[in-house]
Amino acid sequence: MKIGIVTGSHRKDSQSAKVGRFLSAQLDARDGVATWVLDLGRSPLPLWDEDIWSQGSQWSAIPDLKTALDQSDGFVVIAPEWHGMVPAALKNFFLLWAATGELSHKPALPCAVSAGEGGAYVISELRMSSYKNNRLCWLPEQLIARDVKAICNEDSTQNDTPNHDAFAERSRYALDLLLAYAAALRSVRNSGLIDHDTFMNGM
Ligand SMILES: Cc1cc2nc3c(=O)[nH]c(=O)nc-3n(C[C@H](O)[C@H](O)[C@H](O)COP(=O)(O)O)c2cc1C
Repeated sequence: MKIGIVTGSHRKDSQSAKVGRFLSAQLDARDGVATWVLDLGRSPLPLWDEDIWSQGSQWSAIPDLKTALDQSDGFVVIAPEWHGMVPAALKNFFLLWAATGELSHKPALPCAVSAGEGGAYVISELRMSSYKNNRLCWLPEQLIARDVKAICNEDSTQNDTPNHDAFAERSRYALDLLLAYAAALRSVRNSGLIDHDTFMNGM
């Protein structure tokens, strides 16, 4: 089973990427699970424009990214809270994939990141406005990495142990569910029911 981890911060050395590494290591430790990472801070994508349809030169990375998404059974989407919003790079990412299958009817675990006690706004925003045309299926579970500088650090002396352990336990549970949904939703995608030719965009 292959899980893609999409990190939504624009920053090259973001706390979101650190959380992504922590979650990726948890997944990689499980039998039969492989992960790959798209860090939009280190590998930024152009802002959507019409040239994407004619494969303009700025879109040369898209075929490889499409293959990686197509081959994935599910996703972890990490969104730092910026001004109470999802960063533009992540919103742009969702624009690139419509009813063309890459994300469609695949489960995704949303993970918000905040230096303080925030994070809830981005979870609401992702659940409200990111999936209509690409048909990504948000899990009913979510993660919020609050006070993020004190958790998920490779150097454990930098962690606030109770907060780190609580996040680690919660993420183990949420990732187990993500893998269960990833296995289950394969049967939905193989059911023959999905008709994006007739119903290209969500209502
Ligand atoms: C432009 C900007 C806006 C931010 N706005 C918020 C916010 O609204 N709520 C919040 O909890 N943290 C906010 N933060 C702090 C982030 O939580 C913090 O940078 C954290 O490390 C996650 O971002 P990162 O993944 O880019 O490191 C903001 C940070 C930036 C750079």
